[in-house]
Amino acid sequence: MHLRIFLVSLLATALLFIPASFAARWVADMAYLPSDATGVVEFSHYSHLEVLGRDCTTCHNRIFHIEAGKNPPVTMGEMEQGKSCGTCHDGERTFAVSANCQFCHPTRPVTLAVPDVGDVSFSHEAHTSILGCSNCHPALFRPTTDNPPVSMTEMAEGMSCGACHDGSTAFSVEENCDFCHQM
Ligand code: HEC
Ligand code: HEC
Ligand code: HEC
Ligand code: HEC
Ligand code: HEC
Ligand code: HEC
Repeated sequence: MHLRIFLVSLLATALLFIPASFAARWVADMAYLPSDATGVVEFSHYSHLEVLGRDCTTCHNRIFHIEAGKNPPVTMGEMEQGKSCGTCHDGERTFAVSANCQFCHPTRPVTLAVPDVGDVSFSHEAHTSILGCSNCHPALFRPTTDNPPVSMTEMAEGMSCGACHDGSTAFSVEENCDFCHQM
């Protein structure tokens, strides 16, 4: 048997027997689950162990294998049906995966460069307090910083920011230039 695989299975078996309070001392707090669609999801062992008790077998290896490569990617749809984080994040045991996106998918402000006119600072915070990620991602913008440029004319026809900034859902792109551009 490959040594690394042997050690990991040994660890997996050991988790069933060692006192949980001992195990908790050496587990690293953060685990990082990559996601192309939203950016990395950070998972805190410590805050979970605090609320759930220090029993590693609550999650390992039934819900998550301790070896990242053995956890196939899971979609939010599958989580809503009770897989992965959705085993507990179901809206009853604790906050649901069908909302509260920002608890698990942190965001930061983005700057869209517009030479000559003035750069646009887009605030995720201002928008996610009233909208979900799926109102914009991935249909209007891929969650990256290299979306193809869109002109103000296209926005006035409903593309990009103009999907909402139409003068009724939110202030119009045909005026209020300085609400968005640093002029
Ligand atoms: C609430 C669920 C949960 C509990 C309880 C839990 N873990 Fe984890 N653990 C995870 C998740 C999620 C990952 C990341 C899996 C991945 O990367 O695909 C992980 C990853 C790990 C890893 C791999 C870390 C790495 O950097 O590759 C180790 C080791 C681990 N856990 C040990 C433990 C031990 C020891 C305990 C008990 C003290 C414990 N876990 C309790 C959910 C949990
Ligand atoms: C075994 C059940 C269980 C699983 C599995 C689980 N959680 Fe949790 N999680 C909880 C509970 C319970 C809380 C506490 C909520 C509260 O305080 O109301 C919590 C709290 C959190 C919080 C808020 C506290 C913090 O850590 O900042 C985040 C974020 C979170 N979970 C993310 C995740 C992610 C991401 C996954 C999957 C990788 C996951 N959880 C899997 C039970 C679970
Ligand atoms: C409890 C934590 C948690 C919450 C809440 C959460 N997610 Fe996720 N999400 C994850 C994790 C973990 C992954 C990565 C899963 C993987 O690759 O196995 C993920 C992956 C994704 C993906 C890529 C996979 C896919 O389904 O296409 C998208 C998009 C996504 N989340 C959007 C959202 C949106 C929108 C919300 C709010 C409605 C949300 N998430 C709420 C934890 C969470
Ligand atoms: C009102 C629209 C809107 C909403 C809602 C929104 N985003 Fe974004 N997001 C954007 C725009 C615009 C960009 C920048 C696109 C560009 O620069 O090409 C972006 C970029 C991103 C990026 C890449 C930038 C970076 O920081 O690396 C990530 C990751 C991202 N969003 C995640 C999310 C998540 C997670 C949510 C929900 C919590 C969310 N977004 C909600 C509009 C939105
Ligand atoms: C809701 C926010 C918003 C408002 C309001 C807005 N813009 Fe923009 N504008 C943007 C964004 C974002 C870009 C960059 C788009 C891209 O790169 O995809 C942009 C790009 C531009 C460009 C370069 C593309 C082109 O069409 O030539 C010009 C010029 C411009 N804006 C002028 C204006 C003027 C003048 C006004 C007021 C009448 C205005 N903008 C109002 C967000 C806004
Ligand atoms: C899915 C709908 C939606 C999209 C897409 C959207 N916005 Fe907004 N935006 C809103 C709503 C709703 C408000 C709050 C109502 C208002 O201020 O009129 C808002 C408010 C704002 C504000 C004022 C709040 C603040 O201080 O940040 C700015 C600036 C803004 N948006 C810029 C942008 C830019 C730039 C884009 C494109 C990159 C964009 N928005 C795309 C819905 C959207």
